[in-house]
Amino acid sequence: AAATSYELIMVSSPKPGVGLVTLNRPKALNALSTPLFLELNDALRKLNQDNDTGAIVITGSNKAFAAGADIKEMKDLTFSTAYTTDFIELWSSLSSQVKKPIIAAVNGYALGGGCELAMMADVIYCSSTATFGQPEIKLGTIPGAGGSQRLTHAIGKSRAMELILTGKTFSGKEAGEWGLAARVFQQPEECLEEALKTAEVISGYSRVAVKAAKEVVNKSQDLGVRDGVEYERRVFHSLFGSKDQKIGMTAFAEKKQPQWSNE
Ligand code: CAA
Repeated sequence: AAATSYELIMVSSPKPGVGLVTLNRPKALNALSTPLFLELNDALRKLNQDNDTGAIVITGSNKAFAAGADIKEMKDLTFSTAYTTDFIELWSSLSSQVKKPIIAAVNGYALGGGCELAMMADVIYCSSTATFGQPEIKLGTIPGAGGSQRLTHAIGKSRAMELILTGKTFSGKEAGEWGLAARVFQQPEECLEEALKTAEVISGYSRVAVKAAKEVVNKSQDLGVRDGVEYERRVFHSLFGSKDQKIGMTAFAEKKQPQWSNE
């Protein structure tokens, strides 16, 4: 992915095993236009296939993670065009096709589609002064990229309902207190650095186990506890068929560091 040049995003690998995607449309506060999402999908697809990449970080600037879907692009859209072209559908490849862990490092505004993009990631880190929200109601519409579902799962119905009905924003500090963000930092630089460090840690584990771990946690969003626990056990059993389970447990028993085969 690093070899491809993009206009609206930047792709780099600042740490071993870590792919960093930086949204780079500063004049529009990283508004998520279709061209931007096409680039993002392309980069994520390549990072997902890249053997050297074990985990991915998505970030924006200190001022804006992303200020939402591109309002100017949507302004004159008709129902029939939105419907027949499946507008926003291309956003979903991030959550359905990228099997490697994604951490969103959120600084500044994460509004509307920006908040939804962060919630499509597997883990959110943010700075305390980040500004989250689903302000679509103020534009005469509603969240369209999963916000009403993912925010409600993350922080509960009453809080999500209040936020979506009023369009009120909430801070990174609150995102941490409510469990939307895994960790909250004082400084934007620290937020990104810690996200990269965590991605590096994840990338150091067996790719097989990491993929399975992401898969089973995500199942908890769709399945009831009984089916989810059953599903987890099946995947857990299947990992006894991996080389890395033998490598990991043998290394523990022999008091050595495991050298993962990713098989
Ligand atoms: N779409 C298109 N352009 C946007 C944008 C967006 N979501 N957000 C900001 N911009 C543009 C502004 O139009 C402005 O462009 P110009 O310089 O050409 O006028 C530029 O970015 C800078 O923005 P502001 O001058 O507004 O910056 P500010 O610091 O005064 O305010 C802000 C920042 C509070 C984030 C404000 O830009 C804002 O309210 N943005 C819109 C937030 C929003 O409503 N997001 C939800 C979009 S709908 C959606 O996402 C649907 C969905 O669920 C999929």
